Amino acid sequence: MSRFDDIQLLRIRYLRGPNLWTYRPVLEVWLDLGPLEDFPSNLIPGFTDRLTTLLPALIEHHCGVGERGGFIQRLNEGTWAGHVLEHVVIELLNLASMPTGFGQTRSTSRHGVYRMVFRARDEQVARVALAEGHRLLMAAINDDPFDAAAVQAAVDAVKAKVEDCYLGPSTACIVGAATDRGIPHIRLNQGNLVQLGYGANQQRIWTAETDYTSAIGESIASDKELTKSLLASCGVPVPEGQVVNSAAEAWEAAEDIGLPVVVKPSDANHGRGVSLELHTREEVESAFAVAEPEGSDVMVERFVRGSEHRLLVVGGQVVAAARGEIITVTGDGAATVAALIDSQLNSDPRRGVEEEFPLDFIDVATDAKLQLELQRQKLTAGSVPEAGRVVTIQRNGNLGVDCTDQVHPEVAHAATLAARVVGLDIAGIDLVAQDISRPLAAQGGAIVEVNAGPGLLMHLKPAVGSPRPVGRAICDHLFPDDAPGRIPVVGVAGSQDTAVLARLVAWLIGLGGRYTGLACGDGLFLERRRVDARNSAHWEAGHRLLVNRAVQAVVIENGAETILRDGLAYDRCQVGIVTDLEGVETLAAYDITDSDQMVKVLRTQVDVVLSEGTAVLNAADARVAGLAPLCDGAVILYASDAGVPAMSAHQSTGGKAVLVRQDRVVLANGSSESFLPGLGRLTVWRATHAGVSIDSLLAAVAAAWALGVPLNLIGAGVEAFESDLQAALASLQLSQQNLPFADKQLA
Ligand SMILES: Nc1ncnc2c1ncn2[C@@H]1O[C@H](COP(=O)(O)OP(=O)(O)O)[C@@H](O)[C@H]1O
Ligand SMILES: [Mg+2]
Repeated sequence: MSRFDDIQLLRIRYLRGPNLWTYRPVLEVWLDLGPLEDFPSNLIPGFTDRLTTLLPALIEHHCGVGERGGFIQRLNEGTWAGHVLEHVVIELLNLASMPTGFGQTRSTSRHGVYRMVFRARDEQVARVALAEGHRLLMAAINDDPFDAAAVQAAVDAVKAKVEDCYLGPSTACIVGAATDRGIPHIRLNQGNLVQLGYGANQQRIWTAETDYTSAIGESIASDKELTKSLLASCGVPVPEGQVVNSAAEAWEAAEDIGLPVVVKPSDANHGRGVSLELHTREEVESAFAVAEPEGSDVMVERFVRGSEHRLLVVGGQVVAAARGEIITVTGDGAATVAALIDSQLNSDPRRGVEEEFPLDFIDVATDAKLQLELQRQKLTAGSVPEAGRVVTIQRNGNLGVDCTDQVHPEVAHAATLAARVVGLDIAGIDLVAQDISRPLAAQGGAIVEVNAGPGLLMHLKPAVGSPRPVGRAICDHLFPDDAPGRIPVVGVAGSQDTAVLARLVAWLIGLGGRYTGLACGDGLFLERRRVDARNSAHWEAGHRLLVNRAVQAVVIENGAETILRDGLAYDRCQVGIVTDLEGVETLAAYDITDSDQMVKVLRTQVDVVLSEGTAVLNAADARVAGLAPLCDGAVILYASDAGVPAMSAHQSTGGKAVLVRQDRVVLANGSSESFLPGLGRLTVWRATHAGVSIDSLLAAVAAAWALGVPLNLIGAGVEAFESDLQAALASLQLSQQNLPFADKQLA
């Protein structure tokens, strides 16, 4: 058979928020199968075998079939290459330890063209996985050379991108815990700075530092001598010692303190330059030479006997503890120390150079500390220890054994006190003790260091013992209350008068006393100030509001195109308004051509309403009203014609509604109805508010009602609303005359 041309990737878009497919970010790929459209998997000889040889774990993909082997079954029956690509990409992501559960492939109205999507936590990672998967699939289709090593290279390429672009393991664990608690997150840089929650109710984390972490505390922690003196003054046991300026002084200090001693830099980390249990002048002096280049000062202190421990303090509690082990190799009379390290230590799958590995790879050629350690044992990397001789390789940095449940309450108290004295809400306390289940004083144990922004990996992947939910502990510390991190978000979806509607909703919420952000077709507004005059009914503008720490409520207009092109800017909302299903004629590029398909697009806005939130739906269109069952929260219907069928059905089952009777706005709660206080006859109101349709008025009233804005404030607010945008901006300028620079500064 002749070769197949490459599947063409026509268009790739990262949908950053809830979208047509799912409520999580996905990569959406439009692809053209070309001639492969006529060759489903079962018609390409040997294809399924080649593919499953390369990716054996495809057997685990349930696919639509719903059981193990489901996807293989589909391959055998015949499935199209777009769908296969989806599974190949998902499998590569799984192999790269960035598992992704969601994928879907659908045909479009064009022959051979499909839309394929898969869940993607990170756009760059997803793009690499797609490219690698595409290569692998074409090779399997055309029976080109591709072997296990090539698969590994593809996985490594994805992994490298994860390492490059995605959150580090500690941050990912906190973010994961936030997601479990329903707290949204936004990454604020390419690294580990992440916002949890929205607007004014957000909390930021940067690895394991938070908004509560004192900057002074962090500086104190980075100076070990200063830390020790503060701890000592509060009665926390620390090893006595002093700062020295020369090798000779180091030896003098060692004699004063009493041998053995420790020599270490005052402000390094990861054990760099730390030498332990030094007994002789020679050892102390060479340790000084190792420590000096690593930090600003060199300290000599009493050597504390016992094992290294790391206690993680979060919000005044020890939430995890790990114990270190001394790492050794045992000679066999034939192999060199370097070879013993490789065969006995580096072969451990937990050791590696990348961040995801809980233990470091040991390289004797570059590790000065290790060379010193060997020298003290009268060995070098090339020596051959006799059979049975135990050689110490690393004394610290191997915190593999969970010991959280053994920590004595007095030790825990010392650790939390230390964190507090230094000024850290999250701290990693380095402590040396023979037995963590006994008080420190009796055994001469001491706290040797307090770390800001401690790594969490040792508590998440301990070599021995169970993982500790430290991400959850940090999340609970940041968000102690029940409904955390959110601010009222109102999403407006539709096409008719939605900018004015959004402005009116924002106006009413603002009157209720909240600093309100608004992104709509008329611009981007903070309170009533317009900070960007361009059309702002899009993802970026909404995102800009959610990041803003001043904002206590937001209103975001989303056309169907925003949902199709980018997804919603927010994961969930308090109020989701859907006004109409118009505008389909502009969406051909998205393969949306009739207004029934619009239902699928705009339902996204209703799907994301929180269970304590409300969908506000236009009852005049039965298809819009028909979205009601998709809403996790309550539903308020509105209609200027109170007699539409959807309305009576809704009211008769006790639903809330906003409608018009006797030329006035009526709020209905089941069968009981009342006029909106503070607002008179609608014909009179219309005369001065020509720019606002009655439908928009009703929708806005419903949204404000759903958010608990007092009813007479809503009525009065509707009266006072300046529907003409230019007039509204002009009147704002008048009222701000005393603040001539305010607009310029913030624009
Ligand atoms: N005075 C000491 N006595 C015994 N062991 C110590 C002493 N100081 C440091 N250590 C050991 O060395 C490790 C690294 O020292 P530390 O001061 O924490 O430096 P780093 O900032 O590089 O982590 C500690 O976790 C501990 O195991
Ligand atoms: Mg330390």
